[in-house]
Amino acid sequence: MMAERDSVLHSWSVQADWDAPTVVGGEGARLRLADGRQILDMSSLAECSNLGHQHPRLVAAIREQAQRLCFVTNAWGATPRAELAQALLERSGFEGGRVFFTLAGADANEHAVKIARQASGKLRGTGDGGIVIARDRSYHGATHLAMAMSGDTRTRVQVDPDAFGVEHVPPPYAYRCPFGSRDAAQCGELAADAVAQRIDALGAGRVAAVIVEPNAGSNGIVAPDSYWPALREHTAQRGVWLIADEVMSAFGRCGEWFAWQRHGEAGRPDLMTLAKGLTGAALPLGAVVLSRDVAARLQHETLYTGLTYCGHPLACAAGLAALQAYEEESLIERSRTLGAALLSQLQQLQQRHAVIGDVRGGHGLFAVVELVADRNSREPLAPWPQTPAPLKALVDEAMAQGVSFATRGNLILLAPPLVIEERELADAVALLDRLLARHFPH
Ligand SMILES: Cc1ncc(COP(=O)(O)O)c(C=O)c1O
Repeated sequence: MMAERDSVLHSWSVQADWDAPTVVGGEGARLRLADGRQILDMSSLAECSNLGHQHPRLVAAIREQAQRLCFVTNAWGATPRAELAQALLERSGFEGGRVFFTLAGADANEHAVKIARQASGKLRGTGDGGIVIARDRSYHGATHLAMAMSGDTRTRVQVDPDAFGVEHVPPPYAYRCPFGSRDAAQCGELAADAVAQRIDALGAGRVAAVIVEPNAGSNGIVAPDSYWPALREHTAQRGVWLIADEVMSAFGRCGEWFAWQRHGEAGRPDLMTLAKGLTGAALPLGAVVLSRDVAARLQHETLYTGLTYCGHPLACAAGLAALQAYEEESLIERSRTLGAALLSQLQQLQQRHAVIGDVRGGHGLFAVVELVADRNSREPLAPWPQTPAPLKALVDEAMAQGVSFATRGNLILLAPPLVIEERELADAVALLDRLLARHFPH
């Protein structure tokens, strides 16, 4: 057999440098490698395996559905699809709304915009006023419109947002506030104000939607609590739909089913997009959840879109099993409790290691550690988005010792499966403590 490094084109990698181990199995928060080693997964792979690896409920549900019916297109009905749509509408309180199923996060975001543009009669996005406002330092996926919406260094070089009718505003990055504030709550309010000002400058009638990650994102931003409710209020006042990109933040990652629920009804978006934790990543599935109002506008006209695999029965069966697992194993609450504990353990590390400038997150099992060259000036260790060499060395050594940490630039992103054992979490933080001391001595 050819080696994978000689046959597969790997995402976000220099092909000549790709040399990752092969995973052959897993259980709970651990992955099993082909050489027999066990690795503790501190990132849920791509922040998606919220239920850990090989969750028995998911495996059983997929097996059962495969025996009954593997596939039928969206032109016909499928029981698990209908059941999952109902469960999502109930869980999110979007009664009277509808669900459009996709295959993943990027196409969910593409479709949320497509749907918002069709439902508001601003179909094309350029010229006829279907402008979408998105944020710098955001990630919405790697298809072309999703890249245009992302404020991400990796995607920015490939697309011109103007060509897709996309405008960007600064993010609520409280530690390095683009509005110059040193107060997190104020920074959140200023970032929400910036969206309102942009809508007003463009004219609300020309804006189809605002799309934003409500809480946490893979670019390491954790929005201050003041941000989302203010954004909701500004957009509602102007009659502009708000799309919550919950692809990463939902299903317990931020301590709620959906991160906006942290703010109750004051945080309810008009549309939200889901993927990743929707099936615990056991099968690819994404979704756009529409409010009653948005859905009503599409009720009597042709929906101008489709995907062969919209609402694939196998994936929907996995989604239903995932929802049952989150609920019956109380994993959302568990994430909230363990996330708070993780945050306080990381804050203790911050006291011991001068290289840690900021620690944020912890609403659920998602936390960011930002490394700096100087704590007072907040000078970054390496210019964004470069990863400093000692951080790369730290991650390599952690892997050699059986723990996988995710990094982005100067950031360590901690997002383990919600089923991680407390002992495992404590061991991972203790290892991080030792490795920070070794690779970043005072
Ligand atoms: C917030 C957010 N939106 C969208 C995406 C894209 O999802 P996918 O890779 O499934 O297309 C991601 C992936 O990391 C994400 O974090």
